[in-house]
Amino acid sequence: MERMPYQDGLARTQMAPQSQPGEVVTTDWREKLPVLNGSQVTLRELRTSDAPSLFAMLTTEEVARFISPPPSTVDGFERFITWTLRQRATGSYACYAVTLKGFDTAIGIFQVRESEPSFTTAEWGFAIGSPFWGTGVLQDAAALVLKFTFETLGVHRLEARAAVQNGRGNGALQKMGAVQEGILRRSFLKNGIYLDQVLYGIVKEDWMVQHGTASRDLYSRVH
Ligand SMILES: CC(C)(COP(=O)(O)OP(=O)(O)OC[C@H]1O[C@@H](n2cnc3c(N)ncnc32)[C@H](O)[C@@H]1OP(=O)(O)O)[C@@H](O)C(=O)NCCC(=O)NCCS
Repeated sequence: MERMPYQDGLARTQMAPQSQPGEVVTTDWREKLPVLNGSQVTLRELRTSDAPSLFAMLTTEEVARFISPPPSTVDGFERFITWTLRQRATGSYACYAVTLKGFDTAIGIFQVRESEPSFTTAEWGFAIGSPFWGTGVLQDAAALVLKFTFETLGVHRLEARAAVQNGRGNGALQKMGAVQEGILRRSFLKNGIYLDQVLYGIVKEDWMVQHGTASRDLYSRVH
């Protein structure tokens, strides 16, 4: 998955949780991700039973073209899902399944991982099955994940990277209010070729203004 730390080989061997024995996990989302309801989608924690639908949705050529190679088998997706649950329990990562309202089938995922301790800075990535591109599902889901990220995880700055050639990925991020901050030259190896990536950022104050939870006066005071 794009820019996310999951590697199928590692997941086979690294089965122990990373939290220390006896460590008390007090934050609810570390125990189980809250269900998030939008107008078109419901986001919920992944389950191993999502592996066949995610395999079908996320391994097509058009979806995988600009992201790190997804698992190549249903078993591989099961291991990925198990890994996501372990990482969530450590408090450093969250992965949501995207489902259409009223249906339980996972049609895509959103991943958020901390890039600095305590989730002050994080990076996200997402992928949706191509039958659902351009339907509004992605934007509905993104709004829920942004709210969860800034309000529940406590993120102050959320980054994303998209290959310059990834037209839909760049278009989708811009629609979400992500700001282009630079080009990471030759930063993403895909099929033996180093691609340039656009670095995007959303800071909490921007999101609060866009989301209507802060006035423009507050925005100008913090900048
Ligand atoms: C990226 C992804 C999640 C976007 O989902 P989506 O449903 O296609 O996204 P949206 O339709 O909300 O937004 C895409 C926007 O990009 C626009 N777009 C399409 N091609 C474009 C291009 N070449 N250049 C610029 N914008 C483009 C679309 O027109 C659309 O904007 P509009 O609604 O104003 O017309 C989906 O395409 C996907 O899963 N891709 C594969 C995984 C991936 O690349 N993930 C990484 C994202 S960084």
